[in-house]
Amino acid sequence: MTEKKKQPWWKNAVVYQIYPKSFQDSNGDGIGDIRGIISRLDYLADLGIDAVWISPMYCSPQDDNGYDISDYQDIDPMFGTLSDMEELIAEAKKRNIRIIMDLVLNHTSDEHRWFLEAKKGKDNPYHDYYVWRDGVEGELPNDMKATFGGPAWEWVPELKQYYFHQFSVKQPDLNWENPKVRREIYDMILWWMDKGVGGFRLDVIDQIAKEPDKKITNNGPRLHEFLQEMSRETFQKGDLITVGEAWGANTENAKLYSNPNGSEFSMVFQFEHMVMDQQPGKEKWDLAPLPFVKMKQCMAKWQTELYGTGWNSLFLDNHDLPRIVSRWGDDGKYRKESAKMLATMLHGMQGTPYIYQGEELGMTNVRFDDISHYEDIETLNLYRERVEKGYRPEDVMESICAKSRDNARTPMQWNAEKNAGFTEGTPWIEVNPNYTEINAEAERRDPESVYSYYRTLTRLRKEYPVFIDGKFELLMEEDEQIFAYTRTTEESEMLVCVNFTGKPASCPLTGEWKGAQILIHNYNADVTEEMKPYEAFMLLRSRQGD
Ligand code: GLC
Ligand code: CA
Repeated sequence: MTEKKKQPWWKNAVVYQIYPKSFQDSNGDGIGDIRGIISRLDYLADLGIDAVWISPMYCSPQDDNGYDISDYQDIDPMFGTLSDMEELIAEAKKRNIRIIMDLVLNHTSDEHRWFLEAKKGKDNPYHDYYVWRDGVEGELPNDMKATFGGPAWEWVPELKQYYFHQFSVKQPDLNWENPKVRREIYDMILWWMDKGVGGFRLDVIDQIAKEPDKKITNNGPRLHEFLQEMSRETFQKGDLITVGEAWGANTENAKLYSNPNGSEFSMVFQFEHMVMDQQPGKEKWDLAPLPFVKMKQCMAKWQTELYGTGWNSLFLDNHDLPRIVSRWGDDGKYRKESAKMLATMLHGMQGTPYIYQGEELGMTNVRFDDISHYEDIETLNLYRERVEKGYRPEDVMESICAKSRDNARTPMQWNAEKNAGFTEGTPWIEVNPNYTEINAEAERRDPESVYSYYRTLTRLRKEYPVFIDGKFELLMEEDEQIFAYTRTTEESEMLVCVNFTGKPASCPLTGEWKGAQILIHNYNADVTEEMKPYEAFMLLRSRQGD
């Protein structure tokens, strides 16, 4: 018998992501806040959540909804105070929930004290905190583009220099080559660790080691050196969950990021599966159908290659992505079935699952018919740019309805009352009109709801070690409808099987699994070879006596 090593706590944790602006307003100003989150902790405990990642609540001019930070060590008054934050950490702890802070370390706000100083002169001690290039107005250092549109360089006439920004003009990139910047960041992280936070999510972390002269943005040569230093100086002094956001992650570098020796992070968010439904080489707005077989192979590759050498994060939704039930499921007739199917497919895998607020209700994309209803900087810039380039506005709106980040940012749907119970005032972004039907209050009463299904999934993960340790094997690889895999340990074997489509499908596997225990099933019916639209189940059997 192999001796069981003690696993880090986050290996059987389920994490919930809160987008604070849209979660729960407590004071009627239409904006979600910390006191609102505190009032909903019992809801999260009931769902079986172990940790909550909250998108940034630090002081910020909100050019990019808080991902433009002007003070890392204070809370924006819009969300509350530092003492509210301390109370949140304490109240969460009472319910065995840890709070994960979002660290945005690639850039600050242009209103951060460091940047205000940096702009004062080339010999200011903070000047070298950012990335500058000498130049002449109108002649950009190179043709690099910013993610939210326009060039990645912004001219500062007083200095006769350009600064580099991978995101908006109001998000100047920090210069990680400067050891003073790194020290400031580590001290700030330690300060939050002292406050008792349970972990960190690291925003666009693969972009910190940029080298603009070589047009390198992500995976710069010094990236892992910086990450290892940061981890040594900070995270390793605590018992934290850390997850890096890395659009440029592949299975090779993910083994560095999530090295079981803890030298960098616990895990990374990788996006290979999330960029498959777009035209190759184009942008996310250039829609294409999901290549299902390729997606399965991609998921399987991550499962297999990180087995024993790293750790996966499992997610389909976040504040930057459209709602998965609208994207890969069916948000009409089979909304519930397909939301549960997607959850089954994901939660059976090895890794730490993340549930994005409202995903557990099967919340859907929103369809605002006019661009004026959208709030997101990326969406608004895209609309302007594409219309200027001559795209038809209707086509641009189609892309926006499918992919805008605002799909994930409409207020959480708590009940069927005014504004879905999110606010007494006017919500900062409109509520999805389907809240009368899709809301937490109704779903908590209903044992057949998407919510109740997620609750079962979080419980199963705690009960059966096969979820943590089981080795993954993809089955029926080429099948165009079925996503099936097994997870196997010495003791037991689990079959996860879903019909990814709205049409019946046939699945010969079930024959071999007669008599197995049904862990979860999204139809009240027997498990047979004929799978109904979006049918999904998990079966478990013992391997004893094999
Ligand atoms: C990450 C965040 C996103 C933000 C960007 C810039 O991708 O998730 O919301 O706009 O970084 O900080
Ligand atoms: Ca508020």
